[in-house]
Amino acid sequence: MPPEPIDEVRGWLAEAPHVAVLTGAGMSAESGIATFRDALTGLWARFDPQQLASPEGFAADPALVWDWYASRRAGVIAAEPNAGHRALADFERRHPGRLHVITQNVDDLHQRAGSEKVIRLHGDILEDRWFDACHRHARGANVCDPGWAEPGSPPACAECGNRVRPGVVWFGEALPVAALEAAEQLARRCAVMLVVGTSGAVHPAAGLAYTARRAGAKVVIVNPQPSELDALALRRLQGTAATLLRRLLAGEPPGPVSATG
Ligand code: OAD
Repeated sequence: MPPEPIDEVRGWLAEAPHVAVLTGAGMSAESGIATFRDALTGLWARFDPQQLASPEGFAADPALVWDWYASRRAGVIAAEPNAGHRALADFERRHPGRLHVITQNVDDLHQRAGSEKVIRLHGDILEDRWFDACHRHARGANVCDPGWAEPGSPPACAECGNRVRPGVVWFGEALPVAALEAAEQLARRCAVMLVVGTSGAVHPAAGLAYTARRAGAKVVIVNPQPSELDALALRRLQGTAATLLRRLLAGEPPGPVSATG
């Protein structure tokens, strides 16, 4: 009898010299953080990304955008890592250097669970940065820290009026170069890539799964729903991140799981 897909993937993980894990919003869904594209509950089903997640939207209505991110920040601070985040961190601890997380998420739940090798493709919602280069800095001031801005919605430089914005990547903006390069390297060298909780709709992040597949990695999807990356995956495990990562990565013997592919 052929092995259950989950046993098969566990075998691949046990043998893989290197595992890359590409995570998306579904990774944090069981921590109570909304995804983007799930029907009804996804943020982009309820809010306009052009208005709230683009430089143009911020320029048009900074207070609206700032306040929306302030409420999302509060949600992230109140959330706790789930069993999926912990399973990844535990595996990394038990097998130093063998597993790296590449995340599209702007929360810090991987880090709080204990993952150390986390590459953040889309920034950090808990960080602030200037919208433009602050004029004080341009004039040669030694330090021009967003933390010095006058409080407000958003905080602004008392001298030049420049505004503080959240440190996330918005639509139309480039990803941090070093993070993308590091992620591409990992995608090229991993033997297994787990693609967890992402719709695969946003590039270049989703392209990392293609890179891994082209380089010969076994690509495995963990998602309760179909995704845009299903066709390239060698196995698709249907279920949630917290349930499946625990079963894939922890020591306990796996049970049956619904799977396709
Ligand atoms: P999406 O909202 O596009 O996709 C979330 C995925 O998670 C879907 O495929 C769901 O089926 C799946 N999902 C839901 N609950 C899950 C669970 N409990 N366990 C596992 N999977 C689950 O989110 P992303 O793919 O992350 O960009 O979106 C990519 C980017 O688009 C985000 O990083 C964000 C957004 O605009 C920026 O912030 C720059």
